[in-house]
Amino acid sequence: MTAIAHEDVPAGRWLLRPPRPAEAAEALAMLTDRDVVQWNPAPAVVDEASARAWLERGRDWSSGGHATFSVVDPVSSRMLGNVSVHRIDREQAFAALGYRVAPWARRQGVATAALAAVSGWSFDRLGLARLEICHAVDNPGSCRVAERAGFRLEGTLRQSFVYGDGHRHDEHLHGRLRTDPVPLL
Ligand SMILES: CC(C)(COP(=O)(O)OP(=O)(O)OC[C@H]1O[C@@H](n2cnc3c(N)ncnc32)[C@H](O)[C@@H]1OP(=O)(O)O)[C@@H](O)C(=O)NCCC(=O)NCCS
Repeated sequence: MTAIAHEDVPAGRWLLRPPRPAEAAEALAMLTDRDVVQWNPAPAVVDEASARAWLERGRDWSSGGHATFSVVDPVSSRMLGNVSVHRIDREQAFAALGYRVAPWARRQGVATAALAAVSGWSFDRLGLARLEICHAVDNPGSCRVAERAGFRLEGTLRQSFVYGDGHRHDEHLHGRLRTDPVPLL
C-alpha cells in the first residue's frame, strides 16, 4: 500500500493534525476516561510511556492503511480528541472512521466537526467513495454524532463487537458516500 503524506486539516474552529508524542498526558487522560474505556477500549495504554507509543503508532501513516489525527485547539494546541480513518482500502475506495473526544471538550461540536472534516478529506485527498462508522446501539451519543456528520443509519449488526465491558454489543452501521449531500454544520 502507498504511504499517506502527513497533512493538517481544518475542522471548523479546530484543527486535525497528525498525533504528537508531546500529547501523551492528554492522551492518557482521554483514554482512561470511563466512557472512552467502554466505547473505544485501548487497554495497552496505562501510563504516559504507553500513551506516547499509542500516539506514535497513530502518527505513523507509512502503511497506507490508516490516517489518524489528533483534534486540537489551534490557539492553545491542547488536544481535544482523536479521529481515525482506518481499514483504508484504495481498491475498494473504502475506509472506516473512529473517534473519541476528551471529557474536557465534549458537547461543543468537536466530534461532529472532526468527522465532517475528515470525511471531506478522505473523499478529496484519498479518493474514497464510501466511509463507514460502527457504534454500539447502547451509545446513543455516538449515533447522534454520526447522523449530524452526514452518516446515514443503514442497519444493525447483531452482537458484532466486544466493547470495554467485555460483552458483545449490537452495533449500528452508518455509511456516507462521496455523492451524499455535505451536512450543514
Ligand atoms: C460520543 C462523543 C464522541 C461525542 O463527542 P462530542 O464532541 O461531545 O459530540 P458533539 O458535541 O459533536 O455532539 C453532536 C450531537 O450529539 C449529541 N451528543 C453528544 N454526546 C451525547 C451523549 N452522550 N448523549 C446524547 N447525545 C449526545 C449532542 O448533543 C449533539 O446533538 P445536537 O446536534 O442535536 O445538538 C464523546 O462523548 C465521546 O468520545 N464519548 C466517549 C467515547 C465514545 O463514545 N466514542 C465513540 C465510539 S463510536
